[in-house]
Amino acid sequence: MAKAQSVFVCQSCGAVHARWQGRCEACGAWNTIVEEARESPQALSPSARARGKGPGLAFQALDGVAQAPPRLATGIDEFDRVCGGGLVEASAILVGGDPGIGKSTLLLQAVAGAATRGIKSVYVSGEEAIAQIQDRARRMGIEKAPVQLAAETRLETILEALKHEKPQLAIIDSIQTVWTETLTAAPGTVAQVRACAHELVRYAKKAGTAIILVGHVTKDGQIAGPRVVEHLVDAVLQFEGERGHHFRILRGLKNRFGPTDEIGVFEMGDAGLREVTNPSQLFLDNRGHARPGSVVFAGIEGTRPVLVEIQALASPTAFGAPRRAVVGWDTTRLAMILAVLETRCGLAFGGRDVYLNVAGGLKISEPAADLAVAAALVSALFDQALPEDCVVFGEIALSGDVRPVSRADARLKEAEKLGFTQAFLPRAASSNTTASTASQARRLVAGQSGVKHRVIATAADLVATITGQEYPETP
Ligand code: TYD
Ligand code: MG
Repeated sequence: MAKAQSVFVCQSCGAVHARWQGRCEACGAWNTIVEEARESPQALSPSARARGKGPGLAFQALDGVAQAPPRLATGIDEFDRVCGGGLVEASAILVGGDPGIGKSTLLLQAVAGAATRGIKSVYVSGEEAIAQIQDRARRMGIEKAPVQLAAETRLETILEALKHEKPQLAIIDSIQTVWTETLTAAPGTVAQVRACAHELVRYAKKAGTAIILVGHVTKDGQIAGPRVVEHLVDAVLQFEGERGHHFRILRGLKNRFGPTDEIGVFEMGDAGLREVTNPSQLFLDNRGHARPGSVVFAGIEGTRPVLVEIQALASPTAFGAPRRAVVGWDTTRLAMILAVLETRCGLAFGGRDVYLNVAGGLKISEPAADLAVAAALVSALFDQALPEDCVVFGEIALSGDVRPVSRADARLKEAEKLGFTQAFLPRAASSNTTASTASQARRLVAGQSGVKHRVIATAADLVATITGQEYPETP
């Protein structure tokens, strides 16, 4: 019997099915299964033939002589920092993001920066014509950078050119447009994306080139198809931002050579992306006067302290079950804070729709935001504004106790820098455990920082501080 000529591949997770179906059983996605020609395994792995010819594999000790990988700095600090201090030779990075968010702009600036610093760099675009890219470079004022440009989508041609040019840094914009002639599947399908990414990553490792692949993100936030690419590359960076806002955030999702909680902040302008070295200023922009429900949280993003405004609204529910809507924070965590406020402080949110928003489109995952969220909720419920020059941070336990958080001194310093004069904070924050921070904290208490501490020990303490009453009636 002849073998079936095609298989059905989920474009979201890459699972292979024998027949078409509406829903992928592997990842649960709907309408993602596409018919693809069955590929012979040989076509995908030409090295298979080389296998079985003697040992060819030498094992090494863990404490070998390998040094920290040398870094290629692009000179764009926000980008380099997210990469862990610059790009690493012989590595592959995937940069994902919504179409039109500014990936091409960011990478063009990065590649121009690298080339200006003497790093041999090429930029291969499969999406735009050369003239278009040149025009953009001129507008951004980086047209003098010695970047080698090419517009090409065929993998074999790209690899051939890379082998000939031997660049230290290569940008492939985007991986979804690249296709290999060893496969019959259409460009952009999982099979093509996976095969091309695999070949490019192999080239990077062999030739010592740093390769950056650009990947588009689908509507539901997945890096399209390239979920199958994520494990091939050394780092996955996500470029995100809200439409209508002009700032963009580069976030590390995976990084074999650096931290994953680091963010780089940029502002999109007429001449490309501008680095934002003081993000707090950006996120607190246009804040105006203190209003009920608005609280400034002193957070830490990666290694940097960042101040952001947290806004809450508790409006009477019109009908049915009350709504809880969250932007920029965790829904489960909000439910927990509401439960603590209801159980430990006797507040009633049952008849209220609760909306929580982290201003500026930042996403916060730190538990240290608990106290700020609780303060915003209490402030909204009682229609009582917090003092205008006040920052808040602290973790709330289910018991209602407010727990200390890390790097209180850095948070307070950032607050002081931006003109805040008081802080709602957990007790132990001013008597930290390590010697250096303890002495730093003591100096703060001694009044050197100019930020007054208001220690909040429990959630009930917070309610009393905001409302001025020990046992306030829920309005
Ligand atoms: P682009 O880098 O092409 O996005 P992507 O590669 O992620 O699809 O960015 C395009 C958007 O950026 C477009 O909407 C215009 C805007 N933009 C500016 O506002 N200023 C600029 O200087 C540039 C180059 C782009
Ligand atoms: Mg683009």
